[in-house]
Amino acid sequence: MKQIDRLRSLGLFDARVPRYTSYPTAPIFSPDVGAAHQAEALAALDPDEPVSVYLHIPFCERLCWFCACRTQGTKTLSPVESYIGTLEQELALLKETLPAGVRMGRMHWGGGTPTILPPHLIHRLARAVRAVIPPTEDHEFSVEIDPTMVDFQKIEALAQEGMNRASIGIQDFDPKVQEAIGRIQPFDVTKACVDDLRAAGIHSLNADLVYGLPHQDLTRLDDTVSRVLELAPDRLAIFGYAHVPWVSKRQQLIDGDALPKEVERYELARLAAQRFGDAGFDAIGIDHFARPGDSLAQAARSGHLRRNFQGYTDDTCPTLIGLGASSISRLPSGYVQNAPATAAYIQRIETGTLAGARGHVMSVDDLLRARAIEMLMCDFRLDRDALRRDFGAQTATLAPTLAMIAERYGDLVTLTENHLAVEPQGRPLTRIIASALDTHLSDNERFSHAS
Ligand SMILES: C[S@@+](CC[C@H](N)C(=O)[O-])C[C@H]1O[C@@H](n2cnc3c(N)ncnc32)[C@H](O)[C@@H]1O
Ligand code: SF4
Repeated sequence: MKQIDRLRSLGLFDARVPRYTSYPTAPIFSPDVGAAHQAEALAALDPDEPVSVYLHIPFCERLCWFCACRTQGTKTLSPVESYIGTLEQELALLKETLPAGVRMGRMHWGGGTPTILPPHLIHRLARAVRAVIPPTEDHEFSVEIDPTMVDFQKIEALAQEGMNRASIGIQDFDPKVQEAIGRIQPFDVTKACVDDLRAAGIHSLNADLVYGLPHQDLTRLDDTVSRVLELAPDRLAIFGYAHVPWVSKRQQLIDGDALPKEVERYELARLAAQRFGDAGFDAIGIDHFARPGDSLAQAARSGHLRRNFQGYTDDTCPTLIGLGASSISRLPSGYVQNAPATAAYIQRIETGTLAGARGHVMSVDDLLRARAIEMLMCDFRLDRDALRRDFGAQTATLAPTLAMIAERYGDLVTLTENHLAVEPQGRPLTRIIASALDTHLSDNERFSHAS
């Protein structure tokens, strides 16, 4: 059987499975785990262990049709300014809750579009966070940048506040594809943004691309990749377009008939991976690439790569504090998500409580499976010895599932007493293989395609 037919027979094009940026995944969070649990878990943090902070800005000046992120359109700054006020209130509540002395090792601003903030709001927000959780000496501050919604003054303001990594949204440079996804972004505008970021001293630059977009074909994507390489990023992510119009209503504006079919999608992903490999990037996990000297590539080589809500990271802080509407905090006891809708988030903070609205308390079994799934997603290798060291006899509960995986996937995986490895030809199936370890997955949830 041809390789592609074999992958098809194992569900590559049919399975709808999570991307496992967390385990369990957010759709199973329960409303029983909310602000009270959040407050208790935050108060119990070890002040000697640095935390990471994620801050969500749920506003964009225009709404791109393809985008599945939680955000809302605004033409004026007044809702944004008032949202910054709410974030300050949330930070004041956090200050009352956290033990004294907690420091911040990493901060990421995501969205939506953080660069919708004018310089004075960038300064105000950065200072408000620092006043509550001071950064460590070597802290990293990264920001998602929309090149069409930024100027040098904003980049300078972010750099003054300590931004040392940036992630720019590109998707695709082809004009026909851009028109079909409702996001017009000329190359020159993107290049000017990259030049400004480099001039401001940003040493680590990531670019986000998407494959599987309407009208994308091998020639168009090849062109886009060449133009992206001209920008000389340090890291790249290329995500499969998730067409989920039942979740993201604006995707109904996308012509479903213009989307590449399943095998074309697979070939688009392979083309991009091949081109990035030829250009000297290391492949990282299922959809990232990094220059060999970049800290993400170093983490992957040394077995320290981790998976979080942004994708892959070399951040090893165990605790992530999420601020703003829909943000998810990862706390030692489990996950808590702030109220997802911006209005509901604001309402909760104004009543003087934290905004946690749903979450999940981790059992020992969850912790074991979370680590096992993360190993597969990061290293394509589930290290049974390492799990035994951390979880002892509990690790044996995975054995029947691992045996089932070995039987189902044959030579696409290797199972020994020490590990389960996904072989290179089986790697497109990694999300599906990982989902076999997921005891929370319900048939009622509709995720994006695995391919
Ligand atoms: C919050 S957005 C980027 C930040 C900024 N607002 C911008 O547009 O450049 C994060 C990224 O998620 C990815 N993304 C959004 N919707 C997606 C979808 N439906 N399928 C795959 N990736 C998607 C895109 O690569 C996008 O750049
Ligand atoms: S891609 Fe960026 S700018 Fe476009 S809607 Fe999504 S978050 Fe907003």
